[in-house]
Amino acid sequence: AAPISAPVIQAMKGDSKICCMTAYDYSSGIIADAAGMDLVLVGDSLAMVVLGHEDTLSVTVDEMIHHIRATSRGVKHALVVGDMPFMSYCTVERALETGGRFIGEGHAKAVKLEGGASVCPQIKALTEAGIPVMAHVGLTPQHVAKFGGFKAQGKSAEATKTLIEDAQAVEAAGAFCVVLEAIPVEAAELITAAVDIPTIGIGAGNVTDGQILVYHDTLGLFDRFTPKFVRRFAELGEESRTALARYCDDVRRGTFPGDKNTFYMPEDQLSQVRK
Ligand code: KIV
Ligand code: NA
Repeated sequence: AAPISAPVIQAMKGDSKICCMTAYDYSSGIIADAAGMDLVLVGDSLAMVVLGHEDTLSVTVDEMIHHIRATSRGVKHALVVGDMPFMSYCTVERALETGGRFIGEGHAKAVKLEGGASVCPQIKALTEAGIPVMAHVGLTPQHVAKFGGFKAQGKSAEATKTLIEDAQAVEAAGAFCVVLEAIPVEAAELITAAVDIPTIGIGAGNVTDGQILVYHDTLGLFDRFTPKFVRRFAELGEESRTALARYCDDVRRGTFPGDKNTFYMPEDQLSQVRK
């Protein structure tokens, strides 16, 4: 099937649910793509789940490109979106520079940035430059210091009104879809009805046009903490630990490698070298 483009994702609103997942390298990209994802985000969450940082703030543009390149090699069908890291799009100029590198060097097909009305000049400039933009409102983890932690947003009537305005603003600026993170389902429902672009929820209930989760959360590969909005569809962390412990046992007992894993010399060569 043909690769999925940003306009294809946009046209899925009201038609079928949009399945999105993060991935960070060649092998996770292959797995997410083969599973049938419509969109694969190389999220700056890799700062936490892959690089071991406390939050998403310290991953660099160069590090992101390294992972976007690897992921792009594995994904043949889904739309690959590169997540622009903290402060890499704080001006229109920087946004164009980062976005251009994500496409040109990383081979992403679109970029994501966090924010609503405040980042509309960047969304407009990127879109006009030919770079599709996925926006992200609600709990925007790059603003964790301002929020005082990873806390649900939009719980008041006023905050919900602001979220609706932000979603409408990013749509008007040209975004092809918008992530809604950690907001009440009622707010997500109002926002989804208020815009013509798809809403992609993570912790926004079952009313958005699509869903996204972090790969390591979904597969049980990250257990420093699990947000309420995550469902673990497997326990691969536990399974991996068990498998590696069996490997250690077999090495220590001398039962690995076995016959099947061993190379043997031809008989005639062996007799010559042993004589
Ligand atoms: O970085 C990330 O993984 C994200 C998604 C959770 C939307 O921004
Ligand atoms: Na992110």
